[in-house]
Amino acid sequence: MSKQNKLLRGASIFAGLTILAFAALVGRVESQTSTAPQYTSGGDLLLPVDFEKWVFVGSNLGLGYRQGVAVAPPAQGARVPQQQFHNVYINPEAYAHFRATREFPVPTILVMAKFVAADKEPRGIVATGVFNGDPTGLEVAVKNLPRHDAKGTTAWAYYDFTNAADPSKPPASASPFPDEACQNCHREHASRDNVWVQFYPTLRNLIR
Ligand code: HEC
Repeated sequence: MSKQNKLLRGASIFAGLTILAFAALVGRVESQTSTAPQYTSGGDLLLPVDFEKWVFVGSNLGLGYRQGVAVAPPAQGARVPQQQFHNVYINPEAYAHFRATREFPVPTILVMAKFVAADKEPRGIVATGVFNGDPTGLEVAVKNLPRHDAKGTTAWAYYDFTNAADPSKPPASASPFPDEACQNCHREHASRDNVWVQFYPTLRNLIR
């Protein structure tokens, strides 16, 4: 082999290795940023990470749900429960799909981060209104098939990652609820495919 050929061969091996190394790196980055739901071997959902980087679809203040029974007004003098913000995020792939087709794909993940509606902060600058105070809980809805558990009959599964002892530290995984606990109300009253699109302007505006 001539000296020139050897040099050329060396250069192409080097280029090949560089491409391989780059591909490996890209592969790793992709798997890290994928927002597909992850499960334990027992079928529990792993806590979604970095959902704050997803698409923010809306924030509701003080929504309470009617369970089909009349809600008794608070007794006179009783403390009215403190209102909460429900901030809802959707994974970016599902948002892009919904934007294009008006349908939620498999998989879709919606995260609802809840916060106290606070009206006082240490500097005393707030005169009126409320802001997102301490976290109070985290709930997650996942559309996925096949189901990773035997608890529900439809593609939608619901999870509560609220740690009552310290809501700022949600557990690493959560079990799905049976259909009657969560799914049924969502299926019957949410405006599109179990999701409360009627309350989320970012999604609602797409179906007008
Ligand atoms: C009686 C009706 C009802 C029941 C039962 C119910 N939800 Fe919801 N859920 C709602 C409404 C209304 C919203 C609209 C957003 C809000 O609360 O701000 C919602 C929103 C959500 C969202 C945000 C994403 C979405 O689907 O729009 C999640 C996550 C969620 N609920 C989880 C749960 C879980 C977990 C349970 C069971 C433990 C549950 N829900 C039971 C009425 C219900």
